[in-house]
Amino acid sequence: MPSEESSEDDGNSNPPARNGRTDGGDPETLDTRAIHAGEQKPDNALVTPIYANATYEYESSTALGGRYRYSRMSAPTRGDLESVVANLEGATHAYAFASGMAAIDAVFSLLSAGDHVVAGSSLYAETYDLLADVYPRYGVSVTHVDVTDPDAVRDAVREETALVYVETPTNPLLRVVDIAAVADAAHEVDAVAAVDNTFASPALQRPLELGADLSVESLTKYLNGHSDAIGGSVATRDADLALRLEKTQYTRGAVLGPFESFLVRRGAKTLQARMDRHCRNAAAVADALVSHAAVDTVYYPGLDSHPGHEVAAEQMADFGGMVAFELSGGVDDATEFVAALETVTIAESLGGVESLVEVPAAMTHQDFTAEELHAAGIDPGLVRLSVGIEREADLVADVRRGLDAVL
Ligand SMILES: Cc1ncc(COP(=O)(O)O)c(C=O)c1O
Repeated sequence: MPSEESSEDDGNSNPPARNGRTDGGDPETLDTRAIHAGEQKPDNALVTPIYANATYEYESSTALGGRYRYSRMSAPTRGDLESVVANLEGATHAYAFASGMAAIDAVFSLLSAGDHVVAGSSLYAETYDLLADVYPRYGVSVTHVDVTDPDAVRDAVREETALVYVETPTNPLLRVVDIAAVADAAHEVDAVAAVDNTFASPALQRPLELGADLSVESLTKYLNGHSDAIGGSVATRDADLALRLEKTQYTRGAVLGPFESFLVRRGAKTLQARMDRHCRNAAAVADALVSHAAVDTVYYPGLDSHPGHEVAAEQMADFGGMVAFELSGGVDDATEFVAALETVTIAESLGGVESLVEVPAAMTHQDFTAEELHAAGIDPGLVRLSVGIEREADLVADVRRGLDAVL
């Protein structure tokens, strides 16, 4: 492993910590820590600046001049964000990547030929593609199961299973996976349990505290929260996994740049405040959907009728900002509904302050075959809403406008 930093404190005014090493912290103080954690700031600057350095000066050919050597290996703005992510996830280490997919790829790159993966049957489309098209080429086999049923996971794992990979809540159907039960099933065969925590964010759910080994975020979503940067992270408390992830990060090189690191770190300061509002607005939108005649089915973990409601109430601090639903008239109604919206924007992605709507079969999951859509439970008329932090009454009125348009 490269020794890109001096081993001792050299008195440099930039504080230590790289790759987000931290002792974690009390979940009750997440909102305070989101504002104050990290901070590799020089002199008396209030916030960490964008350190736009590719490389760092040596003192001599045998001695670094400070903590850093080359920014693919470690860099101050990224290191600051990594400290914050590790802190919020209750992790000891976190690594920031160029996108959520690069972070997920870093998790899969821990696998070797002959390894077997048990993964959820409902996954983000590109995650599914990596497991269907890329990793099998390197000798990795995959079994997709309904991971909302821990017994199905227990039945699917075998001696060669090296990774159990789930999302919860899932994209786009908001299915809820019992993280502790799935982690137990993985650990029975010494497999790594990894959770894509993007839909919840560490403000609502901390997979490592529930027994998972790795927590993955698309930083593009709630952590950044402003739809203006792409990024991803992997957090862990396992020293061995941390070393392997660190090596993946600097060898594969899909690191998060200083500008994006700055934006996500800035966004993370308001994570809890935004999440509180996302959850409140989403609950109001879900109520409006449930009570409208044009709506057939609503998928929102906060509803008593949702099959994952009890597990969500147990493992999440709140039910999140995502709502999905099917209209009685299927895909034609879905098209009419989104066209009638005025406040909510038609766009992919989620977790930003602005409300977004999409039709997964036509947009995020457009590359899925009809069979794959069916297997993932995605109806062609399914609508997914990322409920933003606009005024609740404005959002409910807009959703009602869309629904009234299809009646
Ligand atoms: C659940 C989930 N995981 C991972 C990703 C990929 O993240 P990124 O777009 O930052 O690569 C997404 C993107 O929408 C997602 O929804």
